[in-house]
Amino acid sequence: MSVLEDDMKRSDKEMLDILFSYVPKIAESKQLDSLLVLIADLGRKFVLAERCSLWLVSSDGKELWTKVAHGTSEIRIPVTGGFVGYSLAYDEPLLIEDAYEDERFDRSVDLKSGYRTRSVLTVPFKDSVGKVMGVFQAINKKNNGCFTEEDLKFLQLTAVYSAKSLESAMLFQELERNQEEITLILGAAAECRSHETGNHVKRVAKMSYTLAKYAGLPEVLCQKIRLASTMHDLGKIGIPDEILNKQGKFTPEEYNIMKSHSKMGHDMLVQSNCELLRLAAEIAISHHERIDGKGYPLGLSGDDIPLSGKICAVVDVFDALINTRCYKQPWSRERVVALYQEERGCQFEASLVDILLEHLDEFYAINDSMPD
Ligand code: C2E
Ligand code: SIN
Ligand code: SIN
Ligand code: FE
Ligand code: FE
Repeated sequence: MSVLEDDMKRSDKEMLDILFSYVPKIAESKQLDSLLVLIADLGRKFVLAERCSLWLVSSDGKELWTKVAHGTSEIRIPVTGGFVGYSLAYDEPLLIEDAYEDERFDRSVDLKSGYRTRSVLTVPFKDSVGKVMGVFQAINKKNNGCFTEEDLKFLQLTAVYSAKSLESAMLFQELERNQEEITLILGAAAECRSHETGNHVKRVAKMSYTLAKYAGLPEVLCQKIRLASTMHDLGKIGIPDEILNKQGKFTPEEYNIMKSHSKMGHDMLVQSNCELLRLAAEIAISHHERIDGKGYPLGLSGDDIPLSGKICAVVDVFDALINTRCYKQPWSRERVVALYQEERGCQFEASLVDILLEHLDEFYAINDSMPD
């Protein structure tokens, strides 16, 4: 190695400084666009490239898009195109010295941009379960040099290191979009029904999230359960007012009509393309099932009942018991605890009852924070 090359080789400290200047920014960034820029910047500094971009597969799987390559708008290319397409299709990194010498190079991008691509690095970018989300690409080593195997490792490291944040940001964006769709549906539904229903729904959402969290489910799933559980009683919009708002106990006939709300809610939601609304359908149809098989509408028992429905069942009943309903007064805390002890493993999943009772103050506090 020549003296000059040795000088140009950067110290570990320098690399660590770069890495640690990006760690907090990448970890905290929830917005997909800004995260893409941060990750590309980190990659560019690591491998001393003129340009770096992160290409993501579009939701229909037909294109790769990026917002990074010189900031303005989105650039889209077909998934089959160029080095990026190759890395995606074959799940292989590429280290190219001269793009124009390689038949896989797609010259049309250079033609459009007037840019002259020379050396190229591409690395497939995978999510936490190993599914390829896109391709990380660095173009033109600085000072007309070539990328090295070490550069390739650093770009791979950047990809591995950023994957979790990127995945979260994509989920976050999806959740935000879904939430909007749901708000519209619920808004329309709530208008039709008694004003009481609004806070019951919000409390059940918060309590479902809390119970899911204590049950050890991952944050993203807890958030989905929080949003989806808001629709557990959506089917009540199909129940006649005189039954829904009846003062006092139901006759068996009235009760049977009311019981149709879980299937009705399910049927309204289950056709959706949106994963979150299908989770809501699952909760709607299963939130009145019982572990002992005596629930409705299907009489499922034990683990045939989805966990989301078991969670919602515990908090839905809790909310009904501790508040005033048009057919009942609030129960005392002693009576509520006694019911859950009695129904542990019968009506409700035992482990979820244990969590509720262990954190009972917190669940009461949620209730108090959102009164009817
Ligand atoms: P909700 O008011 O949200 O109640 C949800 C669930 O909490 C009930 O599901 C039931 O499992 C539980 N729960 C509520 N009150 C009591 C209670 O006093 N004792 C016990 N052991 N559990 C209770 P369920 O029974 O399938 O009822 C579904 C929905 O039907 C209720 O939702 C409520 O809107 C309505 N509903 C049920 N019974 C009556 C009634 O007698 N009169 C009226 N007007 N509505 C009723
Ligand atoms: C219900 O929708 O559960 C009945 C109305 C209430 O929230 O009390
Ligand atoms: C009630 O339904 O009002 C009380 C019966 C029970 O403890 O489940
Ligand atoms: Fe219900
Ligand atoms: Fe309910």
